[in-house]
Amino acid sequence: MSTSAAAPNESETITIAPLSPTVGAVIGGVRMSGDVSAGQVAEIRRALLDWKVVFFRDQDVNIEEHIAFGALFGELEIHPFATNLEGHPEVVVIHHDEGSLFGQNGWHSDVTWRLEPSMGSILRARIVPPVGGDTLFCDMNAAYEGLSDDIKEKIEGMTAVHSYTRVFGGGASEDEREAMREKYPDARHPVVRTHPETGAKSLYVNAAFVSHLEGVDAVEGNRLLRRLYRQASIPEYQCRFRWQKESVAFWDNRAVQHYAAFDYKPATRRVERVTIVGDTPV
Ligand code: SIN
Repeated sequence: MSTSAAAPNESETITIAPLSPTVGAVIGGVRMSGDVSAGQVAEIRRALLDWKVVFFRDQDVNIEEHIAFGALFGELEIHPFATNLEGHPEVVVIHHDEGSLFGQNGWHSDVTWRLEPSMGSILRARIVPPVGGDTLFCDMNAAYEGLSDDIKEKIEGMTAVHSYTRVFGGGASEDEREAMREKYPDARHPVVRTHPETGAKSLYVNAAFVSHLEGVDAVEGNRLLRRLYRQASIPEYQCRFRWQKESVAFWDNRAVQHYAAFDYKPATRRVERVTIVGDTPV
């Protein structure tokens, strides 16, 4: 059972329209370009915990307002490897067009290679393809709960090793990679993490950043990881968001994974993200 199925959808200043029974809701009544009150921030936080990812439409914000909105929810991180917006290092730019070979189309949650992976990500659409380019989100609490008791028992207390080198730093020299590895050592996180605010358990492994399971035979570990990765691709645990210009998505990396469908070539898609610092997964 997912924890949020019975979550109330009533708030003082925002409206909440669910996209699926447990994951994803569109929020109305928020104007990110204006003053967002402390009360409204608290309501958005509550909705994020209940729905794991929330969406906002028609937010005609500039980059400063995007950053300011993110900062209402915590300290913003600077991604050391991604393309950051000139003059605004806390903004990650994700741009794909006809020349792109891939497009964030792998299930993951953000920066799990950090010792303290991000709490949340706030993504704003700048260029939306005429069709396609949706982002899918998977409720990783539901994905965990959907495992058999045997597998749950097997992975209880297991640790996965996460490394940025699986995605970033391909063009760097061995010396540069070594220096980066010292700065960003492999991170060891529980395979099943407990959400620090809701107490819900979720599956916390992804093919983008996990290199192996600690202390498990490589063949057996890879087989188990492949089995666990499959959980994110089960439609019953997902919602899917169709972007429009000025749409914003705010997801809880402790509770969901996401996948950006790369089905829009040769069209262009550009989104910008601010990411909120999180804590050590337990
Ligand atoms: C991301 O992976 O953080 C971006 C997702 C997207 O482009 O929809």
